[in-house]
Amino acid sequence: MTSARPGAPAGRTVAIVLAAGLGTRMKSRTPKVLHRLCGRPMIEYVLDAADAATGSRPIVVYSPATGAVRDAVAGRAEAALQDEPLGTGDALRAALQALPAEAEEVLVLSGDVPLVKADLLEALLEARALDHAAMSLVAVDALDPTGLGRVVRNEGGTVERIVEDKDASEEERQLTEINAGLYALDASWLRRRIGDLTPSAATGELYLTDLVAMAREDGRLVAALEVEDDGRLTGINDRSQLARAEWDMRVELNDRWMKAGVTMVDPSTVYLDHDVTLAEDVILEPGVVLRGTTSVGAGSRIATGTQIHDSVIGERCVVWASVLEGATVDDDVTIGPFSHLRRGAHVGSRSEIGNFAEIKNSTLGEHVRQHHMSYLGDADVGADTNVGAGSITANYDGVNKHHTTIGEGVFLGVDTMLRAPITLGAGSKTGAGAVVTKDVPAGKLAVGVPARIREIRPIAPTPPADPTEPAAEDPAG
Ligand code: UD1
Ligand code: CA
Repeated sequence: MTSARPGAPAGRTVAIVLAAGLGTRMKSRTPKVLHRLCGRPMIEYVLDAADAATGSRPIVVYSPATGAVRDAVAGRAEAALQDEPLGTGDALRAALQALPAEAEEVLVLSGDVPLVKADLLEALLEARALDHAAMSLVAVDALDPTGLGRVVRNEGGTVERIVEDKDASEEERQLTEINAGLYALDASWLRRRIGDLTPSAATGELYLTDLVAMAREDGRLVAALEVEDDGRLTGINDRSQLARAEWDMRVELNDRWMKAGVTMVDPSTVYLDHDVTLAEDVILEPGVVLRGTTSVGAGSRIATGTQIHDSVIGERCVVWASVLEGATVDDDVTIGPFSHLRRGAHVGSRSEIGNFAEIKNSTLGEHVRQHHMSYLGDADVGADTNVGAGSITANYDGVNKHHTTIGEGVFLGVDTMLRAPITLGAGSKTGAGAVVTKDVPAGKLAVGVPARIREIRPIAPTPPADPTEPAAEDPAG
């Protein structure tokens, strides 16, 4: 969170975020302002901007139909209930009930304008202060003013009123200067006058925008902060606007990470959530999706087709075409292609996790090799252990999950089944196809179905047939 506007006494300016509208055009069971942009409900971005501009706790207006909004913002905002969505003027009236008595100024924002930036809000507050105006608003020369409130000025250019599209005359509809729906207001004037709003003849709603004409009646000024139409202030009303806002936000986010030292081979195909953190010299290949609180350490490469959720990746790792959820990966690890690390997977440094390897709720020590088609669930695996192709921890008996403990330097032969609960001592081995149902002491060999315990006989390494050729077998296999 950023600090308050310099020079603004904390608590004097309070932000009010309107979020009681139904958002029917989203056609959703989720209230509009809780739809996510880069992994976060859009209203969070509005609250960030409000916090930065005011430094005081904002008020969010919700309705009985949007109770989920109140719950979602409970940690960072006061909530004010608008019983029925009778218009923006009525929403503001509802918010004033929750406004602290010492508040001297209110900043009004919409929960569905998530790309709004704190510096614009600060400029809006300054514009009001400069003119000692009852109210200031953001005016945009819109490329397409359809459906929006038009700013009506007198011959001298003074803002006189705002006319809503539905109430506008043909002539007024030709105006392209629109009201963006962001306002700063003198709180004591507002408290005095809010009760005087009357319903629109066209819609029956109470319009917040009628306050402009009321301020003029009272001989007060209304300041207009004029800004370019860059699309950032267009509210989100439907899913295609949601996708466009996500696009804008993603471009900005990716740009920020590239400036911080991350290489993106094709940033248009990299999808990062707001809370992802990346270190210098991370390389993100095309088609990478990083979600939630994922972090990636310096020098790691995340290759095409990888999805990582809420996971920590160390330094100098390589992740190929894999799915990681709630996993922790230490430094210098290679993962994939086609590995699946699930919640609670912790992979020690220099480990190698390969094709169709699945790990859940298991801790692997350093330099564990698990290359082919295998499953480790509810297990602790010691350093330097080799998990042979097709090896499985049978951790589930149909009712309960059981734990497997594998010591350091263990060698699991191909196709080993470990029936949990079970412990394999350090330096033990299993034969190909062993079904291990009893603990294996350190340094012993388990073979057969069910496995019996034997002594380990050393295997002499095969010399290469032709010493000029490299060894054919991958030693980690
Ligand atoms: C409003 C402005 C219009 C401006 C436009 C900019 C009014 C009357 N009009 O129109 O001049 O050009 O924004 O986007 O204010 N809300 C409530 N309770 C209600 C009604 C709305 O909380 O009873 C909230 C909505 O959730 C939304 C915001 O107020 O966050 C704006 O409401 P909306 O209905 O979208 O207003 P517009 O018709 O877009
Ligand atoms: Ca709107």
